[in-house]
Amino acid sequence: MSATPITLVPRDASVDHTIQAIVTGDQTAETCNTDLALGPWNFDTRPGYGPGSSMGDVIPVGAPRQGELPQEYRDTTEEDLARRIRAAKETLGERVLVLGHFYQREEVVQHADYVGDSFQLAGAAKASPEAEAIVFCGVHFMAETADLLSRPDQAVILPNLAAGCSMADMANIDQVEECWEQLADVLGDLDTPDEDGRVPVIPVTYMNSSAAIKGFVGRHGGIVCTSSNAHTVLEWAFARGQRVLFFPDQHLGRNTAKAMGVALEQMPLWNPRRPLGGSTPETLRSSRVILWHGFCSVHRRFTVDQIEQARREHPGVRVIVHPECPMDVVDAADESGSTDYIRRAIAGATAPTTFAVGTEINLVQRLAAEYPQHTIFCLDPVVCPCSTMYRIHPGYLAWVLESLAAGEVVNRITVPDEVADPARVALERMLAAKPPSSPALRAAPEARA
Ligand code: 13P
Ligand code: SF4
Repeated sequence: MSATPITLVPRDASVDHTIQAIVTGDQTAETCNTDLALGPWNFDTRPGYGPGSSMGDVIPVGAPRQGELPQEYRDTTEEDLARRIRAAKETLGERVLVLGHFYQREEVVQHADYVGDSFQLAGAAKASPEAEAIVFCGVHFMAETADLLSRPDQAVILPNLAAGCSMADMANIDQVEECWEQLADVLGDLDTPDEDGRVPVIPVTYMNSSAAIKGFVGRHGGIVCTSSNAHTVLEWAFARGQRVLFFPDQHLGRNTAKAMGVALEQMPLWNPRRPLGGSTPETLRSSRVILWHGFCSVHRRFTVDQIEQARREHPGVRVIVHPECPMDVVDAADESGSTDYIRRAIAGATAPTTFAVGTEINLVQRLAAEYPQHTIFCLDPVVCPCSTMYRIHPGYLAWVLESLAAGEVVNRITVPDEVADPARVALERMLAAKPPSSPALRAAPEARA
C-alpha cells in the first residue's frame, strides 16, 4: 500500500488558518473537505453532521438543529469577533464562565477561562458556583454533564446546538433499553446477585454519551467513565458484576479490558440492529465485557500504516494515541492515553523529542505551536477535524455572550429531573471511584479579561 507523506503541522496553532491556506493553495497539505473553510452556519439547516471526520455517519432523526445565526456575526472578521467577545466578557465579568474543550478551534479556545478534557471541564463547571451562566465551547454531552454538576439556577449554554457527537449518538436510550431486556432473557434476572454478591451485568457508559444513557446506567447500578479512569472504573464494575455492558465506544472498552487481561473472545460486540446484538446466548453467557457497536470517527482515521510510516521517516519518534483509536493502532503505538495524558506527556518531555500524535488535529496543532522545542505532528496526514467540535465558531460565541450581556439566555441546555437524578448518581459513583487526575487548565489572565 502506498503511503501518503506525513505533513508536519505549522507553528500557527489555528487549524482554520491551515485549512484556509490549503484551499487557497498556499499550503500543500490535504483536507478531507474543503467546505471546512466555510462558516459552520452554512450547514446549520442541512441534515448531517457537517464537514469533517464524521460527515459519513448517520445523524439520528430529531438531532438538535441550530437556528439562523444573525447576519452581523456571519459577515464580519476574525478580529472584530475577538474584540466583541472580549468586550462582552468584560461587561459580564464573574457572571459568566467560558469553558473550552481541547478540540475546539484556536479562535475559540483563546477566550476560554478554562481549557481541558470533558471531565476536567465538568469539574470546572462544578467548582464555579459564582457564575450565573456557563458557556460550554464543546459538544452537547459535555454541556449536559456541566448542567448535571452545576447549580440548578446556573444556565449552561452551548453556542451551536448542532454541536452533537456522532459517537454519543450511536447509543440511543431505546436501543439500550431493548438490549437490557434481551440480556435479561439470556442471563436471567439482572438484579439477582450470585453467591459472590455479583449481579449478571453492570452497565458502564463513557462520558461521551447522552444524559439519558447516564441516567439508565445510574438506575441499573452502573457508572460513568472517562478515557483517563476507564481502568479504575472497570475494576469497580468487575467487583460488583460478573460482566460489563460498555457503551458507546467499543474501542475504549476493548483497549481498556484487554490491558486488564480480558480475552478478546470474551468481548463480543453488541450491534443494536441485530437480535441478541449479533451474538449467541452461549457467547453472551461466557462474556466478560459486552461492547456496544460505537466508535469515534475522528479516532477511527488512525492506522497502523501511519504509525509505520512515522517510524520510518522519524527514527526515534514517540507515538502517542488516544484510546478511542482501534486496538491494532493502540497496540502499535508507544503509549496511549486521554487528551490530558497526551498534553502532559508532551509538557513533561525535557529533551527535544519527535511526537506523532493520534488525536484530533486542533489539540495536536496547538501543542505543536506551544512546544516549538519538539517536533509534533498528527499521525493522519489529512487535515480532518471533528465535524461537531468545528460547529462552534467565534461568531456563535460572540452571539451567545452579547445576548447574555443584553439579558437574554439563548441555547440553554437543561437535563430534565427524571433523567438528571439517576445520571448524577452514575457520575458521583465515578467521582468516588477515582477523582480527576488533574484540574482543567486556568487560561492566561489576558484570555479572562
Ligand atoms: P476527552 O475529552 O475525555 O479526552 O475525550 C476525547 C473526546 O473525544 C472528546 O470528545
Ligand atoms: Fe465525538 Fe469523537 Fe468528536 Fe469527541 S472527537 S466529540 S468522541 S466525534
